[in-house]
Amino acid sequence: MSNFDEQDLHVVRSTRGRGETFAEIMRRRISRRAFLRGTATVSTVMGVAACTPAPEEAAEVAPTEAPTDAPEPTEAPTEAPEPTAEATATPAEIVDSSLPFTAIQPRPNTDTEVAVPDGYQVGVLLRWGDPLFPDAPEFDPENQTPEAQAQQFGYNCDYVGFLPLPAGSTTADNGLLVVNHEYTNPELMFPGYLDITNPDEEPTPNVTQQIVDTEIEAHGVAVVEVSRNGNGWSYNRDSQYNRRLTGTSPIAISGPAADHEWLQTSADPTGQDIRGTLNNCAAGKTPWGTVVTAEENFHQYFANLGQLPDDDPRKEIHDRYGIPEEASERLWEQFQPRFDVAQEPNEPFRFGWAVEIDPYDPDFTPVKRTWLGRFRHEAQTFAVAPDGRVVVYTGDDARFEYVYKFVSNGTYNAEDRTANFGLLDDGMLYVAKFNDDGSGEWMPLEFGTGPLTEENGFTSQSDVLMKTRLAGDALGATKMDRPEDIEPNPVNNKVYIALTNNTNRGVDDNPGTDEANPRPENAYGHVIELTEAGDNYAATSFGWEIFILCGDPEDESTYFAGFSKDQVSPIANPDNVAFDTVGNLWIATDGQPRTLEFNDALFGVPVSGPERGYLKQFFSSVAGSEVCGPEFTPDDTTLFLAIQHPGEGGTYDVPITSWPEESGPPRPSVLAIWADSGGAIGQV
Ligand code: FEO
Ligand code: CA
Ligand code: CA
Repeated sequence: MSNFDEQDLHVVRSTRGRGETFAEIMRRRISRRAFLRGTATVSTVMGVAACTPAPEEAAEVAPTEAPTDAPEPTEAPTEAPEPTAEATATPAEIVDSSLPFTAIQPRPNTDTEVAVPDGYQVGVLLRWGDPLFPDAPEFDPENQTPEAQAQQFGYNCDYVGFLPLPAGSTTADNGLLVVNHEYTNPELMFPGYLDITNPDEEPTPNVTQQIVDTEIEAHGVAVVEVSRNGNGWSYNRDSQYNRRLTGTSPIAISGPAADHEWLQTSADPTGQDIRGTLNNCAAGKTPWGTVVTAEENFHQYFANLGQLPDDDPRKEIHDRYGIPEEASERLWEQFQPRFDVAQEPNEPFRFGWAVEIDPYDPDFTPVKRTWLGRFRHEAQTFAVAPDGRVVVYTGDDARFEYVYKFVSNGTYNAEDRTANFGLLDDGMLYVAKFNDDGSGEWMPLEFGTGPLTEENGFTSQSDVLMKTRLAGDALGATKMDRPEDIEPNPVNNKVYIALTNNTNRGVDDNPGTDEANPRPENAYGHVIELTEAGDNYAATSFGWEIFILCGDPEDESTYFAGFSKDQVSPIANPDNVAFDTVGNLWIATDGQPRTLEFNDALFGVPVSGPERGYLKQFFSSVAGSEVCGPEFTPDDTTLFLAIQHPGEGGTYDVPITSWPEESGPPRPSVLAIWADSGGAIGQV
């Protein structure tokens, strides 16, 4: 999801009275644009043929001045862990560094070029609108249609997964990229959508049937074959594997909730034939080579909850999930009645799931796996327990929501790929409780156990999963600071949880701090390191500690496990995480332009040894964007990054950048990054 505080970029367009108005936001951003034009180069060197290597960036720039309107530093956590003396090292003391690259300096939030360290190349591999099939139309932003968009790379790329070809191999030069297209920025996509030329008028979106239908086709997932050739990467438009899933694709549903009557709609009385997957944010690769993609902020597409009668039992649930009382931000409900809850009160129950797709089979019907719960899913990441059971870590990315994991009953079969396809339909979902003493427990969301009984309003396992959030409430799970990516480190078996921010922590009647969420009004976010009991991913108890409390290192409340924070890069708003094959943690951010007034970025940080916590900036993105992915090839020599919503803050007609082109609307794009030497990312 974009931006600083959860879904609030979109809230500003509403009239609900929170935050700045849309016009105020635009005026502020346009004034930044004027500044930008006077001080920065708008075009980039990366806008030509797919994945033409960019000339090396001038990697180092002078640090920017302190932000003028950054949030006030928050109080130090009362019990923030302190690095131990023996664990603290300085760069001069480190030999045989596991990440020897030279950190780049953070770049101001007006910068419209990407930056990487000396010795690295960047290529643009896939852009919004790139045709994915031999007969797909070329990108024509002035004349977009849903039919064309359905055959082109979608908007706002988020998750990136590299799956080698052939299936089951560790090929690093040829594979399938699975890319999520989380949501649309219609003001950046369509000419005339939003007129912001009059600073005294609240802009009114110019929404049409054609625009809405095109937006829906710009959502979903892309599967695209890519290969390394010479000095760079390109995609294969003719590949038999290429596929687009959109907001209208047929999707099946399985698991305990699949037979729930609330899945039935007037268009689908069976409740089994769902149309589309929406707001696909992060995702994960299964051990058997499929991808499970997360439906995150699905609530934003629906409208008019206020028109449901108060005694309708669905109303409380929809409200708990944030369905708007009145109009939605994109007004799809005016053109597609299924998004109008007053007309189709069950349609929202068909979203908020984790969806399994098989990239190696273009005819595979994706399946919403209900055992993984229904909430605003961020990632799904996979591990195999010592006894072979499959474990899925997943989180609900909203303020004060929960961390979950699923444990299968069956075991992974490495010899028979298709034998694994039912593993996610039989098991148990757990929700996390973080105790203040550094221990924790996974509590089963099992119907009939503890408070999940009919007396408390839960009628079946199906019912528990349909309203997973309410089940987590009943169990007293720990309310977190927006769980974004959660991922097990395959080298040390610990699990890393990115908590991106929660400025409502401790405000008004909201929950106050606890040891796992130790900062009030948490603007900068933090990263928790979780250790399962016995190093067993299927364990029902765990230990945890805070690995990084993000923010300006000069702020007393920031903390970097085991390392002197005066040596590290500033970081805020951790979002997507990944690991290289030696277990270094890589963190992409979403929100730094607001909190630190730096562009969002990618950082590498060792998690063990004398460099534990020694975080360095590797990549800087372009104005208005967040950094997603990240994904390494199996040999670590290429890093894929998704640049989501570049130029946000401008409009199609009044852009702040045309990145990665020299003109036209900015285009969300997937980048490939590699070292001149051909070595592993971060090792040179
Ligand atoms: Fe789509 Fe929570 O980021
Ligand atoms: Ca995010
Ligand atoms: Ca995210």
